[in-house]
Amino acid sequence: MNTKILKRKCCPPMIYAVILFGLLSSSLLTLQAFSKTVRSKYGSWKTVLTSKDEPGEPLIVSGTVYAPDGKTPAAGITVYVYHTDAAGYYRKGTNSSDNPRIKGTMITNGEGRYEFRTIKPGNYPGGGVPAHVHYVLSGKGYPKQNDEVMFEGDPYLTPRERSEISVRPLTRDNDGVWHCVYDIKLKEK
Ligand SMILES: [Fe+2]
Repeated sequence: MNTKILKRKCCPPMIYAVILFGLLSSSLLTLQAFSKTVRSKYGSWKTVLTSKDEPGEPLIVSGTVYAPDGKTPAAGITVYVYHTDAAGYYRKGTNSSDNPRIKGTMITNGEGRYEFRTIKPGNYPGGGVPAHVHYVLSGKGYPKQNDEVMFEGDPYLTPRERSEISVRPLTRDNDGVWHCVYDIKLKEK
């Protein structure tokens, strides 16, 4: 057998190393690009509150947290949200908002943005109260701030509530997912 010919036909180990390095680099770049969609230097600005098995209509709420001037995006703000399930319960058996089952935490990114995917909350059992999502905002020296968002068209909204800025429209995409945008202005430090 002519070993010289064989050697010419085979790739030297260095070429294999270069190919392997290239493959690993592209994989890492893809992973980094994916991570940037949910993380910033402050932490995760997007989260998912419910599993795919959670009964209810899917809902994505997003928005921007602004400084008290209402214009400057507030980065690094912790946004804790919680709400009832589709039947109106914070937790079956002990329906207390002190111990909600559906909840999650985000930290606003460099543009002050947050986003969470969940299901549309139900009205409290027995009705009377518009469906809503509770917010608790904190961090960056701002006082802890409670807030909530409600949705246009809720039958339990009072005429006064309908004009509040925390009542937001819902739009539904072709996949049946509801979308709501809710921006929040922080109170003065
Ligand atoms: Fe509530």
